[in-house]
Amino acid sequence: MATRKRIGILTSGGDCPGLNCVIRAVVNHATLTHNWEVLGIPYATEGLLEGKASVLNLHGLDLHGIDLLLSMGGTILGSINKGDTLEHADEIIAGYKALGLDALIAIGGDGSLTILRDLARRGNWNLIGIPKTIDNDLAITERAIGFDTAVNTVIEALNRLTYTAASHDRVMVVEVMGREAGHLALNAGIAGGADVILIPEIPYAIANLCNKINELRDRWGRRFAIIVVAEGVKTETGTTSVYTDSLGQVCLRGIGQYIAEQVAHWSPNKIDAKVTVLGHVQRGGMPSAIDRIIATAFGKAAVDLVDQEQYDQMVTWQRSQVVSVPLEDVLLRSPCLVSPNSYLVQTARALGTYIGEFPD
Ligand code: F6P
Repeated sequence: MATRKRIGILTSGGDCPGLNCVIRAVVNHATLTHNWEVLGIPYATEGLLEGKASVLNLHGLDLHGIDLLLSMGGTILGSINKGDTLEHADEIIAGYKALGLDALIAIGGDGSLTILRDLARRGNWNLIGIPKTIDNDLAITERAIGFDTAVNTVIEALNRLTYTAASHDRVMVVEVMGREAGHLALNAGIAGGADVILIPEIPYAIANLCNKINELRDRWGRRFAIIVVAEGVKTETGTTSVYTDSLGQVCLRGIGQYIAEQVAHWSPNKIDAKVTVLGHVQRGGMPSAIDRIIATAFGKAAVDLVDQEQYDQMVTWQRSQVVSVPLEDVLLRSPCLVSPNSYLVQTARALGTYIGEFPD
């Protein structure tokens, strides 16, 4: 008879909706199908460092049981962003050993999975990765958990802003997250009907952006406009807009203000341009149906990989199927960015959206 396994699960990097759905799926499948023990490790490597973990079971989470996790944003395990480090590698590895784990399921983005894989190699852990990030910039997988919900959150904001923009003849500039990748801005911009979408992957010209806004007014009598700009877009002269947070970390922010100022400055008529920075609103909220489904399928697949003792793998979403690939194949590749010739970019252009200059 196979021995009863004890597996660990942790969430690392920036949170996003859908993480709790994975935890639920892993606990349900591991417990119901295999009768394994699942240990939830709090705050990723911090929990390992301190050797902390608690048993997750079907009814142990609260009065209503584990199914409430399906609709909960955030992560019940807590997470650390930019905190995962190899600085205390030996202690973290010792912490992992002390927990007596047969395998570890880690839900993270490229940064956290790279560090965890390094620790796994040094400590001889059996690691499975599950991709999550609202930026959707991990290689190979078409979807990372959290992206779809974030797209929907931005769309809702665009819908709201469109009405108030129309009422006041305003230009609304909406700055969205995504780091160096424009997936969130592009998808939400198309679905939310933006007139201008600026993403880091495509250069733009302020003059042509302003022409677009003037054209809306002169040709179509439309006196308002919606501009979506990804946080990683640079100024026209190539400067990245950043601020330093309370922990001294440099974060992307401010390009929306720059765009609004440029539009107001270069417009032939007095223009009222307002900026909304959606910020961490994009990381919160109930997971969408798509995120719940993908997260649940990923959780099931991760447990199956542990059962088959296939480690050092990451689950990916490819053509509505879960396909596991070596973690190395994902992590050694550059982040997945928007291709300037992609079908979605062409679609936006075909509908008259200004999405930067045509590639050479
Ligand atoms: O990678 C996800 C993400 O939300 C980015 O889009 C954003 O730039 C960053 O994390 C924000 O990180 P933090 O929560 O540490 O400010």
